[in-house]
Amino acid sequence: MALRTIRIQGDPVLNKECRPIAEVTPRIRTLAEDMVETMYEANGVGLAAPQVGILKRLVVIDVGDGQGPFIMINPQIVESSGEQTGDEGCLSVPGKAGCVTRPNHVRAKYFDLDMKECEIVGDELLARAICHELDHLDGHLYVEKVTGGLHDVTYDKEDEEE
Ligand code: NI
Repeated sequence: MALRTIRIQGDPVLNKECRPIAEVTPRIRTLAEDMVETMYEANGVGLAAPQVGILKRLVVIDVGDGQGPFIMINPQIVESSGEQTGDEGCLSVPGKAGCVTRPNHVRAKYFDLDMKECEIVGDELLARAICHELDHLDGHLYVEKVTGGLHDVTYDKEDEEE
């Protein structure tokens, strides 16, 4: 496994639509493992492939609730409900956070590394992370959804990065 370089806002790769993954090749498996390692190293709770410069529909998520890491190929939200409003950050927008309203409950389908269809159901932070990471696959950053502007965050906040 190896750490990958996280692309920062302004890099055009972050604004592109990602392509579905048809087959889990050794390269995809390595990419997924590297993304998990890179996410943990950066103290993030999620990372999407375009954030490491790869335009494929792959995200990794671990919100620290003991369930993760989830490695999600071709994820799709199939149900969402409720509402939560709170601070959100992104490893591609370092040192910043902003207030975003998201669904409070999300159900999503995805494929795992064996291309087996799986389902994830999340509330609160996990729901927020799923929405945030899936937005990356369509070229969208959370900053587009912020109300009230971005503010600086200090690095001892536990929910600073998603
Ligand atoms: Ni992000």
